Amino acid sequence: MRILTTIAEVRAQARLWRRAGRRIVFVPTMGNLHAGHLSLIEAARAHGDHFIASIFVNPMQFGPNEDFAHYPRTPQRDEQMLRQAGCDLMFMPDVAEIYPHGPQRAARVEVPGLSSILCGEFRPGHFEGVTTVVAKLFHIVQPDAAVFGEKDFQQLTIIRRMVTELCMPVEIIAAPTVRDADGLAMSSRNQYLTAEERARAPAIHRTLQAAALRLSAGEQDYAGIERCGIEALASEGFRPDYFAVRRAEDLQAAQPDTRHLVVLTAARLGKARLIDNLQVRR
Ligand code: PAJ
Repeated sequence: MRILTTIAEVRAQARLWRRAGRRIVFVPTMGNLHAGHLSLIEAARAHGDHFIASIFVNPMQFGPNEDFAHYPRTPQRDEQMLRQAGCDLMFMPDVAEIYPHGPQRAARVEVPGLSSILCGEFRPGHFEGVTTVVAKLFHIVQPDAAVFGEKDFQQLTIIRRMVTELCMPVEIIAAPTVRDADGLAMSSRNQYLTAEERARAPAIHRTLQAAALRLSAGEQDYAGIERCGIEALASEGFRPDYFAVRRAEDLQAAQPDTRHLVVLTAARLGKARLIDNLQVRR
């Protein structure tokens, strides 16, 4: 596996692969890898010949009071894990390589509307940071396809919209959420939980499952299901930001006849802000 830190080196390698007629699949991450990230590399296998992963903790997507400085960074372990997963190239740029004029002065990519609902309401500027860095990374790597986790369902939806709107020639592949045995979705931020909070955390998945069950049974009182979700999370000691039933396609309000739904939630537990979702087809 090649480990590269500059845009020029990544471009040169990707160009060689492309000239040889190989398909490149890209997996962007912020590092501190776990089995959820590795499942994306696994999913990438079916879609190409060479696999590139990036590890970049993107300052632009963190708010002023968020955890950018403390976000866990484990480059050596990440390198080992990517090597074992059969990744061909690990791109680990520093902040100046991606933002030569600083994140404040960078040209930006914004997907209006979708970026200001749900998590966007509670993390202003977050998705603009995500779409900006993913657009930059796509321009650097120029992959044929890129893999994103359904764990971050709103992020996945926004990236798909960006790619369509900006006519980017990248196929977006969704990979299912990987969970611990007790149902908690794997996340680097789970490390912020104390042992006692970690034991309570699977309630977020159980609450989503309860909502999904009602939706599968055909229930259409979405507002009632949302209230119930908020109450259940609060009674388990979470401070929920939202618990919402939406149309999976575009995260707009679900109609009585919507077939493909998604229930999404974000809730704080101690120092951690956890997000999770479940899709329902009916
Ligand atoms: P990060 O949180 O490191 O996640 C990288 C990718 O891994 C995302 O596509 C995310 O959805 C996926 N992922 C995380 N946990 C997962 C799980 N338990 N199961 C399946 N997939 C999971 O998301 C980001 O980084 C950043 O916003 C990024 C897209 C890299 C832009 O900076």
